[in-house]
Amino acid sequence: MDKLLELSNISVDFTTKKGTLSAVKDVSMTVEQGDFISIVGPSGCGKSTLLNVIGGFLSPSEGTILDKGTTLNGPSSDRGVVFQKPALYPWLNVEQNVAFGLKMRGIGKQERIKVVQENLKRVQLTDFSQMRTYELSGGMQQRVAIARILANDPDILLMDEPFGALDVLTREHLQDELLKIWRETQKTVILITHSVEEAIYLSTSVYIMSELPGKILKEVKTPFSTEYKDVGSREIKSLPEFVKLREEVLSYIWS
Ligand SMILES: Nc1ncnc2c1ncn2[C@@H]1O[C@H](COP(=O)(O)OP(=O)(O)OP(=O)(O)O)[C@@H](O)[C@H]1O
Ligand SMILES: [Mg+2]
Repeated sequence: MDKLLELSNISVDFTTKKGTLSAVKDVSMTVEQGDFISIVGPSGCGKSTLLNVIGGFLSPSEGTILDKGTTLNGPSSDRGVVFQKPALYPWLNVEQNVAFGLKMRGIGKQERIKVVQENLKRVQLTDFSQMRTYELSGGMQQRVAIARILANDPDILLMDEPFGALDVLTREHLQDELLKIWRETQKTVILITHSVEEAIYLSTSVYIMSELPGKILKEVKTPFSTEYKDVGSREIKSLPEFVKLREEVLSYIWS
């Protein structure tokens, strides 16, 4: 497997009115091509801060981060970010939103149309391509955001609570869509989620962070996204081995 990202002893300190706040402490992590990594932990423990470092939006106070062997400096279209609230362009329709990055990079019209159609199909929005984004439901908007990122063909998808604002049914539906996309495209995913169930269901590895300052308490490998392909999602989530792993992860968070 190829190493995509290597985080070594990453710490992030913020200067606040009350003094220095240590948000992330001594995090090391290796991300390989095709991994699906989830990060779980209590609210305010430094998860988004860590994702901002990986995205290149924030420099760590200590430690190094290598992107395919070279020091990561700044954001890149190789690392596509999906936020909790989809940041779409309201003056563009669905198709134009998905085409935006391609247009910015000067990709020709024919190729743009092909890539946009392919990715709208992937998130099942082909029939909605002409709609304005504010005419869509929250789940549909999030699917546009995912299609827009995929259109740029990044190596890594960085997702910060992408399904956090959605109802349970829509959330489960989008989990399965994401799983399908991950299997099809073999992209690498780093997902932050408050849902331990979501993390275990989707990932190959779950990293559990502590309360502030956020340290990695434990990495738990999970088999469900790779070894249970023929089992339905509801069924997987009620398997004894699934429930046992969920309790194990929760015990780190609550202890
Ligand atoms: N730019 C900033 N300046 C100062 N403090 C910050 C900044 N960004 C985050 N923090 C602080 O760092 C800590 C970690 O914040 P972060 O947003 O990374 O947590 P989180 O784990 O993503 O939380 P949540 O699960 O609620 O999204 C918090 O105490 C927050 O107040
Ligand atoms: Mg956060």
